[in-house]
Amino acid sequence: MRKWNFSAGPAAIPEAVLQEAQAEMLEWYDSGMSVMEMSHRSSEFIDIANKAREDFIDLLKIPSDYQVLFLQGGATLQFSMVPMNFSSQRVADYVLSGSWSKKAVHEASKITDINIVTSSESSNFNNVPNEESWSCSENAAYLHYVANETIQGNALHFPPAIDVPLISDMSSVILSEQIDVSKFSMIYAGAQKNIGPAGLTICIIKNDFLKTASTDLPGMLQYSKHADADSMFNTPPTFAWYLAGKVFSWLKDKGGLESIGKINQLKAKNLYAFIDQSDFYSNPISEKNRSIMNVPFLLKNSKLDTEFLHEAENAGLLNLKGHRSVGGMRASIYNATPIEAVDALINFMGDFQAKHG
Ligand SMILES: Cc1ncc(COP(=O)(O)O)c(C=O)c1O
Repeated sequence: MRKWNFSAGPAAIPEAVLQEAQAEMLEWYDSGMSVMEMSHRSSEFIDIANKAREDFIDLLKIPSDYQVLFLQGGATLQFSMVPMNFSSQRVADYVLSGSWSKKAVHEASKITDINIVTSSESSNFNNVPNEESWSCSENAAYLHYVANETIQGNALHFPPAIDVPLISDMSSVILSEQIDVSKFSMIYAGAQKNIGPAGLTICIIKNDFLKTASTDLPGMLQYSKHADADSMFNTPPTFAWYLAGKVFSWLKDKGGLESIGKINQLKAKNLYAFIDQSDFYSNPISEKNRSIMNVPFLLKNSKLDTEFLHEAENAGLLNLKGHRSVGGMRASIYNATPIEAVDALINFMGDFQAKHG
């Protein structure tokens, strides 16, 4: 029996999508084979790939002067590819707002000079400092930030109004609400939260910016090679791409990003409101930076953590353990987690408090 899955990633996938994939598993339409068995150069797969890309572009209203690449290597490879391609031996500005931006900084600093424009590390990344306090470089190649820090559960909800190419890691927030892509030179996201199964990484890159990318790198590390080859420079992760396409169709059927954005806001609002009114649970993130996708919370008495997770699992609520680096709990409430799952979690938390509080 399927249960409510609050995993941070790989995360829940809409059941309707899994059912469709199950129905098509052995044979995709009249092709005589599974999508997994098709050549990525076949007309069948090219149609699947193009449809997925078009739906993604439609959903995010991506302007026509952007490339959308379907790559591999996870968001982690982007931590290196971004500075390799775009630092041009100039300083690169980084916002340090959580564990993932720290990893991005660590990788980039092996490749180019880094300037940390702001950091909330001394307060355990419980906020993202206001833009007015940042120390940006005079002539940065780009400014990189992680829009939603999956582990700490903080978010920068609006792109900074800064006049350098903006690059954002949106792995855990992409497709959760409508954004203005035109504000960015590049956005990237690992798939395993709101896009589909792990193994796929989507990059959205503005053409003018792409023209400045390095052409001295090994082919697999050059964005322009991937763009020129329509993301088929080598064999792409075909099944993940196909499944992502199904997730995009599902999102369109649900009314697109404005519509899912409202549902996501409501889910987060209800969960934070419940935590805030309780003296048994707490959320450490400053209100203006609370993530709508990853909601960490602490029990007043951490000795009850193990019991909480045990009872939650018995109640059909899975993967609520916080990341090992921060402890406590975390409920990841991505697009595929419906409001009913959040209601079930809130009810359970109330019952647990009544029993142990
Ligand atoms: C915001 C963010 N960036 C980067 C990563 C790393 O992604 P991957 O493991 O796909 O390389 C993650 C993974 O959870 C993430 O949440």
